Amino acid sequence: MLWKPKFCIGEGLIDEQHEALFKKVGELLDDVNMSVEIRKQECIDAILFLKDYAVKHFAAEEAYQKRIGYPDFDAHKDLHEKFVKTVLWNEKKMVTEDFSEKSVKSFTGMLVAWLLYHVADADQKIGEFAKQTKTEVQAATTYDHSEIVCRSVVKVLKTIAELDTSAIKKVDTHNETFAESLAVELIFDGEISGYVAFVYPGEFVKKLIYSFMHFTPKEIDELVISALFEISGIMGETICRQIAAGKRYEMKPPFLTSRSEIKPDEIIAIDTGIGVIEVDFSWNN
Ligand SMILES: [Fe+2]
Repeated sequence: MLWKPKFCIGEGLIDEQHEALFKKVGELLDDVNMSVEIRKQECIDAILFLKDYAVKHFAAEEAYQKRIGYPDFDAHKDLHEKFVKTVLWNEKKMVTEDFSEKSVKSFTGMLVAWLLYHVADADQKIGEFAKQTKTEVQAATTYDHSEIVCRSVVKVLKTIAELDTSAIKKVDTHNETFAESLAVELIFDGEISGYVAFVYPGEFVKKLIYSFMHFTPKEIDELVISALFEISGIMGETICRQIAAGKRYEMKPPFLTSRSEIKPDEIIAIDTGIGVIEVDFSWNN
Protein backbone atom coordinates (compact mmCIF):
# COMPACT_ATOMS: atom_id res chain seq x y z
CA MET A 1 0.00 0.00 0.00
CA LEU A 2 1.70 3.17 -1.19
CA TRP A 3 -0.79 5.60 0.37
CA LYS A 4 -0.28 6.80 3.93
CA PRO A 5 -2.74 8.92 5.93
CA LYS A 6 0.08 11.37 6.70
CA PHE A 7 -0.04 12.47 3.04
CA CYS A 8 -3.36 14.23 3.71
CA ILE A 9 -3.18 17.99 3.39
CA GLY A 10 -6.50 18.58 5.13
CA GLU A 11 -8.60 19.45 2.07
CA GLY A 12 -11.16 16.65 1.57
CA LEU A 13 -11.47 16.58 -2.22
CA ILE A 14 -7.73 16.82 -2.85
CA ASP A 15 -6.93 14.12 -0.29
CA GLU A 16 -9.51 11.80 -1.86
CA GLN A 17 -8.03 12.40 -5.31
CA HIS A 18 -4.49 11.77 -4.03
CA GLU A 19 -5.56 8.51 -2.38
CA ALA A 20 -7.26 7.39 -5.62
CA LEU A 21 -4.10 8.16 -7.58
CA PHE A 22 -1.91 6.17 -5.17
CA LYS A 23 -4.35 3.25 -5.50
CA LYS A 24 -4.14 3.34 -9.30
CA VAL A 25 -0.36 3.58 -9.33
CA GLY A 26 -0.20 0.73 -6.74
CA GLU A 27 -2.26 -1.48 -9.08
CA LEU A 28 0.10 -0.74 -11.93
CA LEU A 29 3.09 -1.59 -9.71
CA ASP A 30 1.43 -4.91 -8.75
CA ASP A 31 0.87 -5.85 -12.40
CA VAL A 32 4.17 -4.75 -13.86
CA ASN A 33 5.53 -8.33 -13.94
CA MET A 34 2.31 -9.90 -15.24
CA SER A 35 1.67 -11.16 -18.77
CA VAL A 36 1.90 -8.72 -21.63
CA GLU A 37 -1.93 -8.54 -21.99
CA ILE A 38 -2.48 -7.65 -18.33
CA ARG A 39 0.44 -5.22 -18.35
CA LYS A 40 -0.82 -3.53 -21.49
CA GLN A 41 -4.40 -3.21 -20.20
CA GLU A 42 -3.22 -1.90 -16.81
CA CYS A 43 -1.02 0.68 -18.52
CA ILE A 44 -3.77 1.85 -20.87
CA ASP A 45 -6.08 2.19 -17.83
CA ALA A 46 -3.42 4.06 -15.87
CA ILE A 47 -2.72 6.48 -18.73
CA LEU A 48 -6.44 7.19 -19.23
CA PHE A 49 -6.82 7.68 -15.49
CA LEU A 50 -3.77 9.96 -15.33
CA LYS A 51 -4.97 12.13 -18.21
CA ASP A 52 -8.37 12.53 -16.58
CA TYR A 53 -6.73 13.00 -13.19
CA ALA A 54 -4.32 15.62 -14.48
CA VAL A 55 -7.19 17.75 -15.77
CA LYS A 56 -9.49 17.38 -12.75
CA HIS A 57 -7.10 17.03 -9.87
CA PHE A 58 -4.46 19.54 -10.91
CA ALA A 59 -7.23 22.05 -11.67
CA ALA A 60 -8.78 21.43 -8.22
CA GLU A 61 -5.43 21.70 -6.50
CA GLU A 62 -4.46 24.86 -8.39
CA ALA A 63 -7.87 26.44 -7.66
CA TYR A 64 -7.36 25.66 -3.98
CA GLN A 65 -3.90 27.28 -4.08
CA LYS A 66 -5.38 30.41 -5.67
CA ARG A 67 -8.11 30.49 -3.02
CA ILE A 68 -5.65 30.46 -0.12
CA GLY A 69 -3.19 32.79 -1.89
CA TYR A 70 -0.45 30.20 -2.05
CA PRO A 71 2.81 32.08 -2.81
CA ASP A 72 4.49 29.30 -4.82
CA PHE A 73 1.57 28.85 -7.20
CA ASP A 74 3.57 29.35 -10.42
CA ALA A 75 6.37 26.95 -9.44
CA HIS A 76 3.83 24.32 -8.40
CA LYS A 77 1.84 24.69 -11.62
CA ASP A 78 5.11 24.22 -13.47
CA LEU A 79 5.65 20.86 -11.67
CA HIS A 80 2.19 19.73 -12.78
CA GLU A 81 2.81 20.76 -16.38
CA LYS A 82 6.16 18.96 -16.49
CA PHE A 83 4.49 15.84 -15.09
CA VAL A 84 1.81 15.88 -17.80
CA LYS A 85 4.54 16.17 -20.46
CA THR A 86 6.43 13.24 -18.89
CA VAL A 87 3.28 11.08 -18.89
CA LEU A 88 2.58 11.90 -22.55
CA TRP A 89 6.19 11.18 -23.49
CA ASN A 90 6.01 7.81 -21.70
CA GLU A 91 2.70 6.99 -23.36
CA LYS A 92 4.23 7.56 -26.79
CA LYS A 93 7.25 5.42 -25.89
CA MET A 94 5.11 2.55 -24.54
CA VAL A 95 2.81 2.58 -27.58
CA THR A 96 5.81 2.62 -29.96
CA GLU A 97 7.33 -0.33 -28.10
CA ASP A 98 3.96 -2.12 -27.83
CA PHE A 99 4.08 -1.90 -24.02
CA SER A 100 7.36 -3.77 -23.72
CA GLU A 101 8.33 -4.82 -20.21
CA LYS A 102 11.18 -2.30 -20.23
CA SER A 103 9.02 0.65 -21.27
CA VAL A 104 6.30 -0.19 -18.73
CA LYS A 105 8.80 -0.65 -15.90
CA SER A 106 10.50 2.61 -16.78
CA PHE A 107 7.15 4.44 -16.69
CA THR A 108 6.12 2.80 -13.40
CA GLY A 109 9.41 3.51 -11.61
CA MET A 110 9.22 7.19 -12.54
CA LEU A 111 5.55 7.38 -11.60
CA VAL A 112 5.92 5.92 -8.09
CA ALA A 113 8.95 8.07 -7.22
CA TRP A 114 7.43 11.25 -8.70
CA LEU A 115 4.10 10.73 -7.00
CA LEU A 116 5.58 10.00 -3.59
CA TYR A 117 7.83 13.02 -3.61
CA HIS A 118 5.26 15.38 -5.09
CA VAL A 119 2.48 14.47 -2.67
CA ALA A 120 4.77 13.99 0.35
CA ASP A 121 6.70 17.22 -0.22
CA ALA A 122 5.37 19.82 -2.69
CA ASP A 123 1.68 19.21 -1.91
CA GLN A 124 2.31 19.15 1.85
CA LYS A 125 3.60 22.72 1.64
CA ILE A 126 0.16 23.81 0.42
CA GLY A 127 -1.41 22.20 3.50
CA GLU A 128 1.21 23.74 5.77
CA PHE A 129 0.61 27.18 4.26
CA ALA A 130 -3.15 26.79 4.68
CA LYS A 131 -2.57 25.97 8.34
CA GLN A 132 -0.38 29.06 8.58
CA THR A 133 2.58 27.06 9.76
CA LYS A 134 6.06 27.99 8.77
CA THR A 135 6.89 26.79 5.27
CA GLU A 136 10.33 25.63 4.50
CA VAL A 137 12.74 28.28 3.39
CA GLN A 138 14.29 27.19 0.11
CA ALA A 139 17.19 29.61 0.10
CA ALA A 140 20.44 28.29 1.40
CA THR A 141 21.63 29.79 4.65
CA THR A 142 25.09 28.47 4.06
CA TYR A 143 27.37 28.55 1.05
CA ASP A 144 29.27 25.44 2.09
CA HIS A 145 28.24 23.28 -0.83
CA SER A 146 28.94 19.97 0.89
CA GLU A 147 26.42 21.00 3.56
CA ILE A 148 23.89 21.85 0.86
CA VAL A 149 24.47 18.46 -0.78
CA CYS A 150 24.04 16.62 2.52
CA ARG A 151 20.93 18.52 3.57
CA SER A 152 19.35 17.98 0.14
CA VAL A 153 20.06 14.23 0.19
CA VAL A 154 18.69 13.92 3.74
CA LYS A 155 15.53 15.86 2.84
CA VAL A 156 14.72 13.79 -0.23
CA LEU A 157 15.52 10.41 1.36
CA LYS A 158 13.51 11.34 4.43
CA THR A 159 10.51 12.21 2.28
CA ILE A 160 10.67 9.25 -0.08
CA ALA A 161 12.08 6.46 2.03
CA GLU A 162 11.41 7.58 5.60
CA LEU A 163 14.94 6.73 6.64
CA ASP A 164 16.06 7.51 10.16
CA THR A 165 17.47 10.92 9.39
CA SER A 166 19.37 11.09 12.67
CA ALA A 167 21.51 8.26 11.25
CA ILE A 168 22.32 10.11 8.01
CA LYS A 169 25.68 11.85 8.19
CA LYS A 170 28.62 12.90 6.10
CA VAL A 171 31.55 10.52 6.47
CA ASP A 172 35.17 10.92 5.54
CA THR A 173 35.85 7.32 4.70
CA HIS A 174 33.62 4.38 4.06
CA ASN A 175 33.85 0.62 4.05
CA GLU A 176 31.22 -0.07 1.42
CA THR A 177 32.11 -1.94 -1.67
CA PHE A 178 31.17 -0.05 -4.80
CA ALA A 179 31.89 -3.00 -7.08
CA GLU A 180 28.19 -3.50 -7.82
CA SER A 181 27.10 0.09 -7.78
CA LEU A 182 24.90 2.25 -9.98
CA ALA A 183 26.11 5.71 -10.88
CA VAL A 184 23.66 8.36 -12.12
CA GLU A 185 24.85 11.65 -13.55
CA LEU A 186 22.97 14.87 -14.30
CA ILE A 187 24.35 17.78 -16.27
CA PHE A 188 23.01 21.31 -15.95
CA ASP A 189 23.68 24.27 -18.14
CA GLY A 190 22.79 27.97 -18.28
CA GLU A 191 23.85 30.93 -16.14
CA ILE A 192 25.53 28.33 -13.99
CA SER A 193 26.66 24.99 -15.35
CA GLY A 194 28.12 21.79 -14.00
CA TYR A 195 27.14 18.30 -13.03
CA VAL A 196 26.01 16.24 -10.11
CA ALA A 197 26.55 12.48 -9.89
CA PHE A 198 25.29 9.95 -7.37
CA VAL A 199 26.85 6.54 -6.74
CA TYR A 200 24.53 4.00 -5.13
CA PRO A 201 25.81 0.60 -3.92
CA GLY A 202 23.65 -2.33 -5.07
CA GLU A 203 22.56 -3.26 -1.54
CA PHE A 204 21.55 0.35 -0.84
CA VAL A 205 19.41 0.38 -4.00
CA LYS A 206 17.53 -2.77 -2.92
CA LYS A 207 16.86 -1.37 0.56
CA LEU A 208 15.81 2.00 -0.85
CA ILE A 209 13.32 0.44 -3.28
CA TYR A 210 11.94 -1.75 -0.48
CA SER A 211 11.47 1.29 1.75
CA PHE A 212 8.87 2.88 -0.53
CA MET A 213 7.70 0.24 -3.03
CA HIS A 214 7.51 -2.50 -0.37
CA PHE A 215 9.25 -5.23 -2.34
CA THR A 216 12.90 -6.17 -2.72
CA PRO A 217 13.94 -6.10 -6.38
CA LYS A 218 15.57 -9.32 -7.58
CA GLU A 219 17.52 -7.44 -10.19
CA ILE A 220 18.37 -3.92 -11.22
CA ASP A 221 15.80 -3.55 -13.98
CA GLU A 222 14.12 -0.62 -15.77
CA LEU A 223 11.75 -0.03 -12.87
CA VAL A 224 14.63 0.36 -10.40
CA ILE A 225 16.70 2.51 -12.74
CA SER A 226 13.75 4.74 -13.60
CA ALA A 227 12.89 5.25 -9.90
CA LEU A 228 16.55 5.99 -9.20
CA PHE A 229 16.65 8.52 -12.08
CA GLU A 230 13.62 10.29 -10.64
CA ILE A 231 15.08 10.38 -7.11
CA SER A 232 18.48 11.54 -8.44
CA GLY A 233 16.71 14.24 -10.47
CA ILE A 234 14.86 15.48 -7.39
CA MET A 235 18.06 15.48 -5.29
CA GLY A 236 19.99 17.17 -8.11
CA GLU A 237 17.31 19.87 -8.48
CA THR A 238 17.23 20.43 -4.72
CA ILE A 239 21.00 20.94 -4.66
CA CYS A 240 21.18 23.10 -7.80
CA ARG A 241 18.29 25.37 -6.81
CA GLN A 242 20.17 26.39 -3.70
CA ILE A 243 23.57 26.74 -5.34
CA ALA A 244 22.09 28.69 -8.27
CA ALA A 245 20.48 31.25 -5.92
CA GLY A 246 18.10 32.56 -8.60
CA LYS A 247 20.35 32.11 -11.62
CA ARG A 248 18.78 30.28 -14.54
CA TYR A 249 19.88 26.81 -15.55
CA GLU A 250 18.46 23.85 -17.37
CA MET A 251 18.80 20.34 -15.98
CA LYS A 252 19.37 17.66 -18.64
CA PRO A 253 17.84 14.19 -18.23
CA PRO A 254 19.79 11.81 -15.96
CA PHE A 255 21.90 9.03 -17.45
CA LEU A 256 23.76 6.00 -16.16
CA THR A 257 27.50 6.29 -15.94
CA SER A 258 30.16 4.29 -14.18
CA ARG A 259 31.81 5.17 -10.93
CA SER A 260 35.21 5.35 -12.61
CA GLU A 261 33.87 8.08 -14.95
CA ILE A 262 33.18 10.33 -11.99
CA LYS A 263 35.97 12.72 -11.21
CA PRO A 264 37.07 12.16 -7.64
CA ASP A 265 37.75 15.85 -6.90
CA GLU A 266 34.52 16.75 -5.12
CA ILE A 267 33.19 13.43 -3.83
CA ILE A 268 31.11 13.63 -0.68
CA ALA A 269 30.34 10.32 1.09
CA ILE A 270 27.09 10.15 3.04
CA ASP A 271 26.16 7.35 5.42
CA THR A 272 22.40 6.95 5.03
CA GLY A 273 21.99 4.27 7.70
CA ILE A 274 21.27 1.69 4.94
CA GLY A 275 24.51 2.20 3.07
CA VAL A 276 27.00 4.86 2.04
CA ILE A 277 26.28 6.81 -1.12
CA GLU A 278 28.70 9.10 -2.88
CA VAL A 279 27.85 12.44 -4.44
CA ASP A 280 30.12 14.32 -6.80
CA PHE A 281 29.08 17.89 -7.43
CA SER A 282 30.89 20.46 -9.49
CA TRP A 283 29.77 23.73 -11.03
CA ASN A 284 31.04 26.91 -12.69
CA ASN A 285 29.45 30.30 -12.25
FE1 LIG B 1 0.43 19.11 -6.72
